Amino acid sequence: MFFLTILLFSYLQMSHQIQKTTANGKEMLSNPRLMSVQRTLNVVMNQNVSLSCHSDSGSPPVTYTLFKHNQKVSTLNRPDLTPALFNLTINSASDVGEYKCKAENKASSDGKYSNSLNFTLIEPISKPVLSSPTSQAKKGQNVTLSCLSENGSLPITYVFFKGKQNISPPVKMHKREAAVIFLYISSSSDFGTYKCRAGNSFRNNTKYSNSFNFTVAEKLKSTRSSTGLTSPVNAEDAESYVIYTEIEPVTSEEYVNFPIIRREDEKAEKAACPTVYSTVFTGD
Ligand SMILES: *[C@@H]1O[C@H](CO)[C@@H](O)[C@H](O)[C@H]1NC(C)=O
Ligand SMILES: *[C@@H]1O[C@H](CO)[C@@H](O)[C@H](O)[C@H]1NC(C)=O
Ligand SMILES: *[C@@H]1O[C@H](CO)[C@@H](O)[C@H](O)[C@H]1NC(C)=O
Ligand SMILES: *[C@@H]1O[C@H](CO)[C@@H](O)[C@H](O)[C@H]1NC(C)=O
Ligand SMILES: *[C@@H]1O[C@H](CO)[C@@H](O)[C@H](O)[C@H]1NC(C)=O
Ligand SMILES: *[C@@H]1O[C@H](CO)[C@@H](O)[C@H](O)[C@H]1NC(C)=O
Ligand SMILES: *[C@@H]1O[C@H](CO)[C@@H](O)[C@H](O)[C@H]1NC(C)=O
Repeated sequence: MFFLTILLFSYLQMSHQIQKTTANGKEMLSNPRLMSVQRTLNVVMNQNVSLSCHSDSGSPPVTYTLFKHNQKVSTLNRPDLTPALFNLTINSASDVGEYKCKAENKASSDGKYSNSLNFTLIEPISKPVLSSPTSQAKKGQNVTLSCLSENGSLPITYVFFKGKQNISPPVKMHKREAAVIFLYISSSSDFGTYKCRAGNSFRNNTKYSNSFNFTVAEKLKSTRSSTGLTSPVNAEDAESYVIYTEIEPVTSEEYVNFPIIRREDEKAEKAACPTVYSTVFTGD
């Protein structure tokens, strides 16, 4: 019985060998693997990338052909079983894929095809623009701050800051739309310089916006930081975003002040009251 098993095993080994071998004694190629030498599929415009195409087994020499969208890009001959390296430059959106390669030798003249591979074009973020549609603000008024990066791969995560303190949880935008927070003007004054920061999946790529000032008319009534966000977001620590998104909506107050651009009809009424106080709170 044991002997029979050995026989059967040997036979299977042999027939496998026969399948892989053709009349001229050359071994057929295994399906090649197509890989990015850079190990990442995220690329930026004008980046040079190398694609490695390699069959693990088969008799050399091997001819490797690279295809993009099923169209031949180039051909390389390898005298041995070392990988073929195709060097490309990403010049346009169509250069990101889909790539495949083919390996051929005498025993597999039809060619063996690899996996397909697509790059993802990651565009670095452009400096976001922080703006507010309202230049005038009155006590009890809601105003908004908008932050938008014109360029950069989506999704983009925005955080709003007053000075170095974040005043919003990270707002992740999957569309090319501004992140918006609401500021409810209720009281006090504050020398706040507002900024926002935008980041996307491009590594280490975050950018701060222009500063946006709400004009200061008086000394701070309160300096307590009561946005519900107890520590500043570390610019280097993208992971801390997760924690901040768990925080409940802001309920307590923080004071800021706004430039008061009074119209003629308001002058008399406001003459005795030069300061507008405000409360900051965040929307989603
Ligand atoms: C990319 O390759 C091209 C041509 O091989 C070369 O001229 C260029 O300097 C390379 N660019 C970078 C960023 O290495
Ligand atoms: C691609 O670049 C590598 C080194 O970066 C080089 O060894 C290889 O020969 C190049 N391939 C071609 C086809 O020029
Ligand atoms: C590459 O993109 C093409 C077309 O969008 C898609 O059909 C294919 O499945 C993708 N391949 C991989 C490995 O993601
Ligand atoms: C965004 O990209 C366009 C086209 O590449 C360019 O003209 C524009 O200046 C860019 N905007 C910013 C803010 O970088
Ligand atoms: C300001 O906006 C908030 C949130 O949208 C809303 O709850 C509040 O009632 C608004 N206040 C005024 C005075 O419009
Ligand atoms: C990204 O930032 C980290 C920490 O600040 C730094 O160690 C690393 O070298 C940076 N990587 C790149 C590609 O700039
Ligand atoms: C905002 O105010 C700060 C201090 O009050 C000042 O240094 C800065 O230049 C102002 N920025 C703008 C954009 O007005």
